[in-house]
Amino acid sequence: MENRRGHTAVLERRIPTNIRVNDSVTAQILAESIREAGQIPYSRFMETSLYGPDGYYNKGKVEFGANNDFTTSPTESELFGASIGQGLWKTWNAIGKPETFDIVEMGAGEGELAADLLRYAKDLHPDFHEAIRYIIVEYGRDLIPRQRKRIGNNPKVSWIQGSAFELPVRNITGAFISNELPDIFPVDLVTRMNGEVRQKYIGIENNEWVEIWDKPSPEVAQHIESFELNIKDVVLEPINISSARFQKEMDQALERGVILTIDYGKNHQVGRTTQGVRYFGPKAHRGERYAEFLYPGEVDITSDVNFKVLEDVARQDGLVTAYSDTQPGLLDQLGIFDIIDDIRKNLGPNPHLSDVIDAGKVIASAIKIVGSKGFSHNYHAQLLLKGVAREAILDSNAKNKTTDEMDERIKKKALFPFRVRDCTSNTVIITSNRGRVNTNPKDGVIMMYPENVPSSVIRSADRNDWSSWDLTNKNVLKMVVEDSGYRID
Ligand SMILES: C[S@@+](CC[C@H](N)C(=O)[O-])C[C@H]1O[C@@H](n2cnc3c(N)ncnc32)[C@H](O)[C@@H]1O
Repeated sequence: MENRRGHTAVLERRIPTNIRVNDSVTAQILAESIREAGQIPYSRFMETSLYGPDGYYNKGKVEFGANNDFTTSPTESELFGASIGQGLWKTWNAIGKPETFDIVEMGAGEGELAADLLRYAKDLHPDFHEAIRYIIVEYGRDLIPRQRKRIGNNPKVSWIQGSAFELPVRNITGAFISNELPDIFPVDLVTRMNGEVRQKYIGIENNEWVEIWDKPSPEVAQHIESFELNIKDVVLEPINISSARFQKEMDQALERGVILTIDYGKNHQVGRTTQGVRYFGPKAHRGERYAEFLYPGEVDITSDVNFKVLEDVARQDGLVTAYSDTQPGLLDQLGIFDIIDDIRKNLGPNPHLSDVIDAGKVIASAIKIVGSKGFSHNYHAQLLLKGVAREAILDSNAKNKTTDEMDERIKKKALFPFRVRDCTSNTVIITSNRGRVNTNPKDGVIMMYPENVPSSVIRSADRNDWSSWDLTNKNVLKMVVEDSGYRID
């Protein structure tokens, strides 16, 4: 029977998955709930799968970062946290430098964003750093010790185990920030069948999971009406009631400042024709449909965020939208290139070669959060304001750069020139056990590409200039390095 999310299947009222209910703790908890209620809404299924006693976020196994379950912008580049910190520093200035500036981060993963934001604030704006009180609201209980470890022993940071849509904080002057959070709130799924809106419930028949498309619950119907959602045939529209609650909670808790939410999503409805949710995690990499039934509690389940819903709630609560568009545009307007310029400037007049290499790597990593590498353009960023002027935070001259223009800018900034003198041949070769520089020094300048710089940063004509500068050939290298104004000892 053709029932794996084909369009014909979606039009049926009961759709067998042909997947057995396995013995996992999560599957058994779900089966118990279904036995009691007959059927459960998809949001309940998702909630137990992600946050139940043996759910995906409670297993102690989720790994963020390259080669792990998933990468996120903070794990891709420290300039992500630095740029957000830059925007919050401007906010702090705009509201008259209050003695205490609260930054509430919700869903902090491995703690990278907090660690980077605080480190850059301390280096670039020590007076602002002094005022920061950083509060992490984290639901996944095993993540808190990992965040503590990543951030280190910092008295500025405190933790609250709790949920972002039942916020345990109030009277905040400062900021609420989150990256990739509302996409994992439990959602319901709706579509239109024979002219009627139908909601997805999960049942069990003959010990196999079954999808049941039934009348929407009063809460779901109310959400559709309040936000004037257009539910169409064949399209599965995620209904993220918790995202509206999340926004409301932040609006009510914020006295003055900003709310920054970055996530997969759009400024309008996000329904898709074959699927309303996506899966992540090692098991999901097999790309199977129905991964949530095949591996209950072992896959991350997410849905794109309809940012228009968040914006509508915020507007009703008196907030003003400063920005609601792609991530690269926002980070540019917050000042990512000012930070890059500061990194170069802070190297000083006679920097050590290893610092130059480190700076080049950091600058080059911007390509993953505002350039062509990574997923930067799939992320939507929304900045909402309460009692702060837009112009005080965003640089509107930074608007509307294409991905190519961003790449080009980053490439230029990630390069550090080396001067070459007294060359007897027109090629200088510096060998090392890891790489070499092979360049034509006619113009007396060669470019150094720090190790691990993505190949996209290197213009094709310059590829031979690649080097890992291992310092094996000390004499030649010392001359080149010192002539160029860098230290190696
Ligand atoms: C996809 S991860 C993103 C982590 C991090 N922000 C990053 O960008 O690397 C989602 C994070 O939100 C947390 N989380 C999930 N639901 C939450 C909720 N209702 N309230 C607070 N945190 C939540 C998860 O435990 C995890 O730390």
